[in-house]
Amino acid sequence: MRAQARIDLDAIVDNIAAVRARVGSAAVMAVVKSNAYGHGMVPCARAARSGGAQWLGTAVVEEALALRAAGDTGRVLTWLWAPGDRFEDAVRADVDISVSGEWAMDEVVAAARAAGRPARVHLKADTGLGRNGCTPGQWPSLVDAALKAQADGLADVVGLWSHFACADEPGHPSIAPQLAEFRAMVGYAEDCGVTPEVRHMANSPATLLMPEAHFDLVRVGLAGYGLSPVPDIGGPADFGLRPAMTLVASLANVKRVPAGHGVSYGHAWIAPRETTLALVPTGYADGIPRHASNVAPVLVAGRVRTIAGRVAMDQFVVDLGDDEAEVGDEVILFGPGDRGEPTAEDWAVAVGTISYEIVTRLGARVPRVYSGADASEADATGTDATGTDAT
Ligand SMILES: Cc1ncc(COP(=O)(O)O)c(C=O)c1O
Repeated sequence: MRAQARIDLDAIVDNIAAVRARVGSAAVMAVVKSNAYGHGMVPCARAARSGGAQWLGTAVVEEALALRAAGDTGRVLTWLWAPGDRFEDAVRADVDISVSGEWAMDEVVAAARAAGRPARVHLKADTGLGRNGCTPGQWPSLVDAALKAQADGLADVVGLWSHFACADEPGHPSIAPQLAEFRAMVGYAEDCGVTPEVRHMANSPATLLMPEAHFDLVRVGLAGYGLSPVPDIGGPADFGLRPAMTLVASLANVKRVPAGHGVSYGHAWIAPRETTLALVPTGYADGIPRHASNVAPVLVAGRVRTIAGRVAMDQFVVDLGDDEAEVGDEVILFGPGDRGEPTAEDWAVAVGTISYEIVTRLGARVPRVYSGADASEADATGTDATGTDAT
């Protein structure tokens, strides 16, 4: 074992169940895009379904089609589309399609006609995020086009939705106007005759902190994997969550070096005295941020220590001082923290990013090894658990 990401599927089942308990009558969508934030899409999707997720969410259509290929027959929404994308495949696979503009509505109509069945559509409103979604100014014509497609039997407008910019900053001045704009845009569409099955806006922070944003459905990504989207307000346990991923490696070399010995490229760390260096065989090719050089913590030889020197493509070094370790000993880079190991949030703080990025960037070369619910069915080959071609 060089390195592996151990994924506790029971944690995902329990996290989704905890979210469900929190949101009352609203449905739960587990967001499994980006290889389930690095955790492996298909096994995590199954675990999320076991935890009660009525919906799955993906960014791109290939992810949704991989879920179908793996046997998922439940509701799946896909929201990031480009012109010429696989709309027809999505319609045939019964995947719900987000539409942010009239060009996409046109493609959906053409796809539905070709597939011989109506497309299920969620109209996305840009209520202030300024990213994808239809602006309030363009909304009337998008609603009009969607209703026309519905009247022609080519679309069912089942969802109206939006996304927050700053839900992780409670009280941020953008939050109330976004909610008000969403209510106004939903109201307009309903007045025009749209009868949505689900109105949805909440991501993990809004799900955990803003009941008024739950509407009919919440979309949780990070919380499902047991990480806190608002670490300054509370850690996972404060929200009834448990981190699912533990990243471990085996020491590939242990050696004594004299004082003044430089370590790794650029000699960004130099031994202040005679010491023992341990080699951890993972690097930025595996998703370990190069910014972790000289700052990120790992648990090895019974203590949390800081990476010494630069993270290279495939390896980094830890200074053990006079402590003992052997080749093959386990290093825990991060995990839930209950064995004294650092957490993904500790890495995020050390590196200057968010825990989302720490787990999601984990590379295809690191095997995902599953335990708990559905683990026997999980793809533990490690190259790519999405079922799509590894990229
Ligand atoms: C549209 C949309 N909804 C929901 C989510 C889930 O966000 P979170 O991981 O904060 O729950 C994302 C993630 O980026 C998203 O893009």
